Amino acid sequence: MDIKTIAIIGSGTMGTGIAQVAATQGYSTILFDINDTALKKAKLNIEIALENLAQKQKITTEQKDTALSRIRYTSEFSEIEGELIIEAIVENLSAKQELFSTLEERLPATTIFCSNTSSIPITQIASACKYPERVIGMHFFNPAPVMKLVEVIAGEASDKKLVEIVKKVAQNMQKVPILVKDYPGFIVNRVARHFYGESLKILSEQVAEMEQIDELLEATGFKMGAFKLMDLIGVDVNFAVTVSLFNAFYQDARFRPNLIQQKKVEAKFWGRKTGKGFYTYPDSK
Ligand SMILES: NC(=O)c1ccc[n+]([C@@H]2O[C@H](COP(=O)([O-])OP(=O)(O)OC[C@H]3O[C@@H](n4cnc5c(N)ncnc54)[C@H](O)[C@@H]3O)[C@@H](O)[C@H]2O)c1
Repeated sequence: MDIKTIAIIGSGTMGTGIAQVAATQGYSTILFDINDTALKKAKLNIEIALENLAQKQKITTEQKDTALSRIRYTSEFSEIEGELIIEAIVENLSAKQELFSTLEERLPATTIFCSNTSSIPITQIASACKYPERVIGMHFFNPAPVMKLVEVIAGEASDKKLVEIVKKVAQNMQKVPILVKDYPGFIVNRVARHFYGESLKILSEQVAEMEQIDELLEATGFKMGAFKLMDLIGVDVNFAVTVSLFNAFYQDARFRPNLIQQKKVEAKFWGRKTGKGFYTYPDSK
């Protein structure tokens, strides 16, 4: 099956990065969002990112221009098309189910539906679809243009041939696809919950300040401390993932969300994307 056009739904942190990768690697790319402001921000961020790569001579000016010309930005639902769809919308089961079940009504029967969910089992998302065999997990990591790993997840009903196609697409995007089982949080996010959770616990028990915790984690070799990483991911998204895993594991105390994080979410201190999270970002666009 030849994948030429990829439609990415949701132009936030992840959708923006995935669209940049898809277009740079030769796919005709459609980036859809219900929010025009998010689309404008995505367009600007992709332009800046590709310009930076061109200035560092990692890509040529011609490659930059070609990649930019491959992306179509839209908020018109009827303009979503492509052999492969990647959703990167809000981390919410019913929102993802509604999106896929609406799209499968009007897209050809061969369309592959990929979810970039961090935590929701693919089998659950697919259960609302008429064609659950076409739903596959394709979990990129943040920042998508930089991180090599893509967790590829086959749900109970997923067609194995389509899983292979998704792996191939990830490879074409210069990523390293790893097939993982369909369990809440898959592998990386399940393990990572404890990185964030324990750091938040240390903070709430006043054992250390967040700057100190980040500094220590970075000094031991982590690329980013837990608080800096939550700000990069989006405190809201990270919290939603924790709540999702907590519930998926029958409220196992190991995954219990932290009230410090919940308060940040309620205050809209969502990290870099809102200019303030655990840290402040005066230059955020
Ligand atoms: N942020 C991360 O580090 C990260 C990493 C891997 C996976 N993910 C997953 O990717 C998904 C998106 O996360 P994000 O951080 O990019 O979120 P985000 O909040 O930055 O962006 C989500 C975007 O989706 C749009 N949206 C919401 N509902 C929509 C709908 N029904 N149709 C179209 N657009 C819609 C919003 O307007 C927003 O622009 C989530 O499932 C998340 O768990 C996030």
